[in-house]
Amino acid sequence: MTTYSICVLPGDGIGPEVTDCARQVLNTLASGAGPSFTYDTHPAGHGTFLSDGHAMPETSLDAAKAADAVLLGAMDVAQIPPGGGDPLGDMRKGLEVGASIRPSRAIAGVASPSDDIDCVVVREVTEGLYSRIEYQVDADAACAVRVITRAASTKTARLAFEQATARQNAPNPTHIKGRVTAVHKIGVLKLTDGLFLEAAETVARDYPDIEFETRNIDACAMEMVREPEHFDVILATNAFGDILSDIGAGLAAGLGLASSGCIGERWAYFEPVHGTAPDIAGKGVANPCATILSAAMMVRHLGETASADSIEGAVADVLAAGDVRTGDLGGNATSAEMTDAIIAALQARIG
Ligand code: IPM
Ligand code: MN
Repeated sequence: MTTYSICVLPGDGIGPEVTDCARQVLNTLASGAGPSFTYDTHPAGHGTFLSDGHAMPETSLDAAKAADAVLLGAMDVAQIPPGGGDPLGDMRKGLEVGASIRPSRAIAGVASPSDDIDCVVVREVTEGLYSRIEYQVDADAACAVRVITRAASTKTARLAFEQATARQNAPNPTHIKGRVTAVHKIGVLKLTDGLFLEAAETVARDYPDIEFETRNIDACAMEMVREPEHFDVILATNAFGDILSDIGAGLAAGLGLASSGCIGERWAYFEPVHGTAPDIAGKGVANPCATILSAAMMVRHLGETASADSIEGAVADVLAAGDVRTGDLGGNATSAEMTDAIIAALQARIG
């Protein structure tokens, strides 16, 4: 039985609660023939800024690099003043992650605007409009610099085509579309999106079995709402992907179930797409599913496919049964009750 070392960065708000729930689910795997985990918890986020003066201590980043994988809760980045640290930016740059993988899939038993959505947004996360290069021109004007490089675009495109291939080759594919849609605004962003699309087209040539198409961001946003079943893998620059992945989450089962993983060649970290939910933090009522599903992505990334399938299946079982649900899903279960139900379903699956 393999043991993996996990660096946990619980962060702020509901982050500590939901990462605790995910750990309990991960710990259940060892009672089957699954892997076991050791955890190393480190500070990061707004609370860390308040206590230590910096939101992303070097020691936390080093611990993240030393672990087999990283599980992150949520971070209140909006509260961190300029110069106070940029935990998500530091993680994404420091761990050299190529892109964030953000699946959106309707889940049986959970009401959602679309029953047909089953797609993955592969979003570049280190540059683009979120390059963090901004300057004040004068009192009345400020600029943000949209940086696009061939290296990051190529890395992200490759991850998108790898995702499309993996989805096509999955044993029980829900949708066999084999399609990558690259999103752009080439009519306006001629140089930056010109380079991004050129990199994507070059990578596409290595994947003749995957259909490659492009969409303007505005048209893509509308088509996602009108015809979500069209999409398989959506390849996007940073800000466009940020928005489209929330549209995907909204069309599927909401942010309470939206998971993500930031994957690079050496390191990877996994986090729910949702934020810190300060209104319910500390009350024990947050939906732990997004973090549990992010942990499942982590387990899959570690090569433990059967265990990842079991966790995803257990979450699906509980949601389909419908009797244990947190408030965001229309129920009144606590995070602990939801986690216990998922653990029981997982135990039933892994024997
Ligand atoms: C996300 C979040 C972050 C991002 C914010 C909090 C910086 O919105 O991961 O989608 O856009 O990078
Ligand atoms: Mn976002």
